[in-house]
Amino acid sequence: MIPSGVLIREGSTDILVPSDHSVHGPGSIKGAVFFNEQMAFNRDVSVMLLRALGRDLTVADAMAATGSRSVRIANEVPGADVVANDISPEAVSYIDANIRLNSLSNCRSSYRNMHSLFAEESFDYVDLDPFGSPVPFMQSAIRGCRRKGILAVTATDTAPLAGAHAVKCRRRYQSEPVRGYMCHEGGLRILMCSLARELAKFDRGMRPLLSFYADHYFRTYVQIEEGAAAADLALSRLGYMEYDTETLERSLSAEKDQRHRYGPFWTGPLHDPGVLSRMSQLGMSDERRAFKYLNLWRNEIDTEVFVYDMSELSSHVKMSPPRIDDFMEFLNWHGHAAKSHVCPSSFKTDIPLRDLLALYREFSPDAVR
Ligand SMILES: C[S@@+](CC[C@H](N)C(=O)[O-])C[C@H]1O[C@@H](n2cnc3c(N)ncnc32)[C@H](O)[C@@H]1O
Repeated sequence: MIPSGVLIREGSTDILVPSDHSVHGPGSIKGAVFFNEQMAFNRDVSVMLLRALGRDLTVADAMAATGSRSVRIANEVPGADVVANDISPEAVSYIDANIRLNSLSNCRSSYRNMHSLFAEESFDYVDLDPFGSPVPFMQSAIRGCRRKGILAVTATDTAPLAGAHAVKCRRRYQSEPVRGYMCHEGGLRILMCSLARELAKFDRGMRPLLSFYADHYFRTYVQIEEGAAAADLALSRLGYMEYDTETLERSLSAEKDQRHRYGPFWTGPLHDPGVLSRMSQLGMSDERRAFKYLNLWRNEIDTEVFVYDMSELSSHVKMSPPRIDDFMEFLNWHGHAAKSHVCPSSFKTDIPLRDLLALYREFSPDAVR
């Protein structure tokens, strides 16, 4: 039976979704099957990244709901062979309808608990997109990745990861979250730390391909590296952070101590520049947004863990903020600086804090010239 709903188009794919679905924000379970229009960007990124890999891939969309991501990948990524899995029979009826709607011969539905699917089958690419925290599903998703596979994980539990529910973060991620202007970079790096620790239990390491915060969620794509040495290398990239909101001092330490009390976080890179350079926004559901983020990610200073925010500097020096683009240009005369993707008013730089504050005072519109 064809389920009822409305037809939408994302990228070059038609998708039947329940009429009553989330349009903005984190999305809530409205009917029997979940769909959130705002996650179109998240699905665009999957298509762009998998296309950029440029090779044939077996794909498992572990929690596919309507199968929106699965059918987009099957339809828009050459060489993809997709299994769209969900535990809900209502979801599977949407998946089947969407496979038929797009006449896809390289996509099949699967009506299983993802834990049992990945106990039996493994794939080149596994996508994990649950409600809330991915932690209860990570081990099975890792099992479901073939040797040197790629794992993509979404976390929508931003309140714990970004420090609004620190107790929950400690419980779920065994990490102390950081609040304030570092909270989103921190949340993303806690998610990545948790993934690195899970992978290490299987003697596997990870190399991030792309990791970001957008809208209301964190998302990371990692290339799995095989072997105990790779696992040890990934674990060596975990560390603790000092973030003093009075002095704005930030620093990292491999060990937890009185000053470095936040974390552990992933302190390695977020992105792979090669993959980013091959990603293209053409044909995506929102080309402008995809292009904007591709540029932010490509230009971000990925050797730096710490972000600064214009408002943070402004309230610290008690002077009005300059325009961020002008300030970035000014900073680049003195060192290296670029905007960060986590917030429009945030940036990363290699300029030491003392010098940065002096430059901010000098460049503020309030400065006496
Ligand atoms: C947030 S929705 C997925 C959204 C989807 N990826 C998209 O882009 O529209 C989470 C889905 O996970 C499914 N789910 C929950 N637990 C599951 C499990 N153990 N195995 C498989 N699917 C599960 C739910 O039925 C729900 O459809």
